[in-house]
Amino acid sequence: MTRQLFVTTALPYANAAFHLGHIMEYIQADIWVRHQRMMGNSVSFVCADDAHGAPIMIAAEKANLTPQEFVAQIAAGRKQYLDGFHISFDNWHSTDGQENHDLSQDIYRKLNAAGFITSKVIEQFYDPVKNMFLADRYIKGECPKCHAKDQYGDSCEVCSAVYSPTELINPYSVLTGAVPVMKSSEHFFFRLSDPKCVEFLRAWAIDGNRLQPEVANKAREWLDGESGLGDWDISRDAPYFGIEIPGQPGKYFYVWLDAPVGYLASLKNYFAKTGRDYDAFMADRNTEQVHFIGKDITYFHTLFWPAMLKFAGYKTPDRVYAHGFVTVSGEKMSKSRGTGISPLKYLDIGMNPEWLRYYLAAKLNARVEDIDFSAEDFTARINADLIGKYVNIASRAAGFISKKFNGQVTTAWASSSDSFLSGLRAIAPEIQAYYEGREFSKALRAIMDQADMINAYVDANKPWVLAKDSANDAALQEVCSRLIEAFRLLTLYLKPVLPEVAAQVERWLNIAALQWADVNSVLPDGHAINPYQHLLTRVEPAIFDALFDAPVPDEEKKPGAVEELAATISIDDFSKIDLRIARIVNCETVDGSDKLLRLTLDIGEGKNRNVFSGIKSAYQPEQLIGKFTVMVANLAPRKMKFGLSEGMVLAASGTDEKTNPGLYILEPWPGALPGMRVR
Ligand code: 2FM
Ligand code: ZN
Repeated sequence: MTRQLFVTTALPYANAAFHLGHIMEYIQADIWVRHQRMMGNSVSFVCADDAHGAPIMIAAEKANLTPQEFVAQIAAGRKQYLDGFHISFDNWHSTDGQENHDLSQDIYRKLNAAGFITSKVIEQFYDPVKNMFLADRYIKGECPKCHAKDQYGDSCEVCSAVYSPTELINPYSVLTGAVPVMKSSEHFFFRLSDPKCVEFLRAWAIDGNRLQPEVANKAREWLDGESGLGDWDISRDAPYFGIEIPGQPGKYFYVWLDAPVGYLASLKNYFAKTGRDYDAFMADRNTEQVHFIGKDITYFHTLFWPAMLKFAGYKTPDRVYAHGFVTVSGEKMSKSRGTGISPLKYLDIGMNPEWLRYYLAAKLNARVEDIDFSAEDFTARINADLIGKYVNIASRAAGFISKKFNGQVTTAWASSSDSFLSGLRAIAPEIQAYYEGREFSKALRAIMDQADMINAYVDANKPWVLAKDSANDAALQEVCSRLIEAFRLLTLYLKPVLPEVAAQVERWLNIAALQWADVNSVLPDGHAINPYQHLLTRVEPAIFDALFDAPVPDEEKKPGAVEELAATISIDDFSKIDLRIARIVNCETVDGSDKLLRLTLDIGEGKNRNVFSGIKSAYQPEQLIGKFTVMVANLAPRKMKFGLSEGMVLAASGTDEKTNPGLYILEPWPGALPGMRVR
């Protein structure tokens, strides 16, 4: 019987572009999903933007956009990554979609009717200028222990003390600088402490065999801990970008209440688009609900989420698969250390997405372990294994078949008792089990072991020697046909990891899309294949210089510090820089770049200048057209990947992205005209 799977990855917050950790999770889930589809199972693989919450509301306000506009802008940037890395989601939605409003409110109503919601008045810091309650991260002050200034409301970065925001000395609102006041308000709670909840979760998380052993252990600790489970505060007061709580004007669901409901909302949206019956699917006992998540959000997915669903009378998740983080050369990724990897840059500089898929797969297993990215390891696995062992087989056999045998293969040798073939087919169940169990590294090792054996067969049978004497033609055709058949099987085994390569091989071999059932078939005798085209290029290690951003010098790393002054210069030094008022005649995004805008500038020369500027994160092109700014007009032109840049515009920026994000282009007072010198 085929399986009916509903698979999700965690919903990314809609306030930033994807980082490598997102892409890793999507690749992991995508490999699993593609394997299931090749098994003939039906899969609905969905995700969505996690749109709500205070940080997104505040970011939108800073960008002068409504939260809806802000989130839509982030959403518009998703496709290039998903397509770029061959992630085969069936649907991408938003937690701000109507389906999510309906489903979240329905779940709440049912929890309320079942007695799982209580309310309580709580006291919290409130910003009297902004008129909003402040989450801990929006309050700073002096550490009560070590007296370090500007520490966050929950813990001190200097002495690591943990405290509550009310203990801060001289607290202030990060949003306005105002002194926060204590204010009380009614909050709504999900009664996780109810013994029925604890009993259910124990059965679900521990006895159900739904979780990895280490995750189940954690859940047991949480459930059996001294304080037990506390009730969960699920409400936030207006102003808040979120879903209103039914019957409670001015109260919204805390973002983590409606975020996972977004899984269901995306599925529902997908089913509506494709004319399928969502309710019937969710009511079907055969439906398996599988969530891929990062290890940092297991608490939400193994306690709150199943309990919410259970006591609202909804289907509960069947499996939650947690993974670790991506590290770079053994450390947490860090922009300033020069170990940040932008997935878009990876694609921009022409690195092959399937290299990354293969590399991550070669390191992924079923445990909650961090995955380390190392340039040397990456290069070795791609060049030595993927190209040296796998692609090599095709390139060693293809030429002879095309040149000497009209592209035709023979398979008269391929009887079911043929040991060459049966050996290769015999590993199929093992590889299927590895994919099913997310032991991708083991799957690839088993496949590469087969590739080793096939390469040994090539070395033993030396087609290039056979080719020297046409008396050996029959033998040569058989040897090469065996290699091509073997390559077809290896490609099938690798297809969940390398979907594009597999598609190229299918075109080359002139065959239908490979499925697991094709393990037992063989190319027909006399089948003609197409001329071989190279499948994958090798990794040139120099490419990593372009991939990693240059490390930031130490003195710029102090959080919030003002950049140190540069060395003194003379007035003559300064006058070498020709600064001019420029009119921004046109401004547009640059295809394939996530950082640059292309500016067309007029400085009264009778012709326009083309300037690329790394300000895309801060401005919409339309905001800049028609504005005046200041440019360096005598900077030597610079050839960039996207064209010639003939100067530079001036913008202000801080040194620390966390405490001082943003980029501010300079604008002269009214009256300044294009071409005027700035001195
Ligand atoms: O941690 C995060 O990035 C959350 N946006 C994940 C939400 S997963 C699900 F619950 F929606
Ligand atoms: Zn401290």
